Amino acid sequence: MTLDNKISNLISLLGGTGQVAHHLNIKSSAISNWKKLNKIPKNKYNSLIELSNHLNIDINSFLNTNNLNTMNLNKNINVLLIICGGIAAYKSLEIIRLIKKTEIDLDIVMTKSAQQFITPLLVTSLNGKKCYVELFSVEDESKMNHIHLARKPDVILISPATANIMAKLACGIADDLASTLLLATDSKIILAPSMNPIMWNNIATQANYQTLVNRGVHFVDPEKGDMACGESGTGRLAEPKLIFNTLLSHLKKKNVLNNNLDGISVIVTAGPTIEDIDPVRFVSNKSSGKQGFSIASELADRGALVTLITGPVSIPLPKVNKIIHVKSAQEMFDKTFSELPTTIIICAAAVADWKLIPELNNSIIIDNNNKIKKLKNNNSILTFKTIENPDILASVAQTKERPKLVIGFSAETENIINNAKQKLISKKIDLIIANDVSENKVFGSDYNKVFLIDKDSCEEWDSQNKKNIAFKLADKINNLLS
Ligand SMILES: Cc1cc2nc3c(=O)[nH]c(=O)nc-3n(C[C@H](O)[C@H](O)[C@H](O)COP(=O)(O)O)c2cc1C
Repeated sequence: MTLDNKISNLISLLGGTGQVAHHLNIKSSAISNWKKLNKIPKNKYNSLIELSNHLNIDINSFLNTNNLNTMNLNKNINVLLIICGGIAAYKSLEIIRLIKKTEIDLDIVMTKSAQQFITPLLVTSLNGKKCYVELFSVEDESKMNHIHLARKPDVILISPATANIMAKLACGIADDLASTLLLATDSKIILAPSMNPIMWNNIATQANYQTLVNRGVHFVDPEKGDMACGESGTGRLAEPKLIFNTLLSHLKKKNVLNNNLDGISVIVTAGPTIEDIDPVRFVSNKSSGKQGFSIASELADRGALVTLITGPVSIPLPKVNKIIHVKSAQEMFDKTFSELPTTIIICAAAVADWKLIPELNNSIIIDNNNKIKKLKNNNSILTFKTIENPDILASVAQTKERPKLVIGFSAETENIINNAKQKLISKKIDLIIANDVSENKVFGSDYNKVFLIDKDSCEEWDSQNKKNIAFKLADKINNLLS
């Protein structure tokens, strides 16, 4: 078989040129070129491996070129998987299988309870490596002490994570090997919880969840559905492939896997704008800045050069390259344009649509350089003339210096998807993230439920914390750039 045949066969195994082009978000002609050139560009290896994992196809055995059976590792990658004692412990076997298809070096720890569900022998034989179960083990301490096991990994993944391990981690309890490692590490921690819905919704579990999110622990949130215990609700372990892909994203974020966001310039606008009525009064909106700040912070963590342009907010500022504070929509417009060109712009700010000009009896403009006084004449009515503010999103999307990717937010109270799609088309942007802001569901909250809409599709994302939305959006952008 020639290499040419192999590449062609690989593509057809993955669903054909059209399917692969669609999944990788590239033109079909590029794939035809791969076939012609007998070559797959290096920066596509990871996407192809992710696609093959998604389709459950082992492309390593298919290709014997050493192209695709590596993950384009920039260094030796180590992941520590901690398996806890939940009914979904058996699903960790699938996660081990997915990790073993890569060149990631995997260590595994099982809690005592986990061993009630699956055996260390099974895990050891799948991983081809000893599985650690004891904190006080003379044999293990002599080979790899528990501190080394805690310091070695690029990422620690706990799957399934029990309510118990969440509580222990939140409180800093270290009474077995797993919980001790979690206290002794400075590696990124990802938790994929799974438990009975009542256990998940318990105030204590939810408080622990929030504490851990605030400390930077990443959650692959449990899903809604029927549980093994016969009840239904939120608590089912996320799909192993989603957990695996989240792990890969964190490795990209650490730059140990290909990361398309590294060094890319991004402008993020966030928060509300305010329109002064006079020196002491203004009109604004309820935007807290949390979603925009989470996005700016996530992209900066992944190596992007982020300029954050923010209206007045009262939340802590994220660590990004540059922060510009503005008040009015006009200022936000001017500062945004002064920061162009950029590769990506994400307009998450809730920009005031209008300036308000105070008038007396609908026509006489009032001097608002000083505080407007109460009206003495009973027949006088204070009204406001509205003047439309410039549309930042539409203007950036249609300027000569248009960024490669223009992403906007759309806060809607009705017909969310239709209204957002209209905005996408009329403003000529690439992607719109629509959310329902009726009944104060979003502004100020740590959670958001969004729809991602582009010209061809609409993805609905379950309600989740804003940091998770930022994480998934960064993944999406990473793929769009490849
Ligand atoms: C049959 C059975 C199933 C269980 N499933 C879960 C579960 O899915 N999630 C969970 O948080 N706890 C579950 N538990 C309770 C945990 O096993 C228990 O809290 C244990 O202390 C967890 O220990 P670990 O966190 O050290 O693994 C289950 C217990 C039993 C007996």
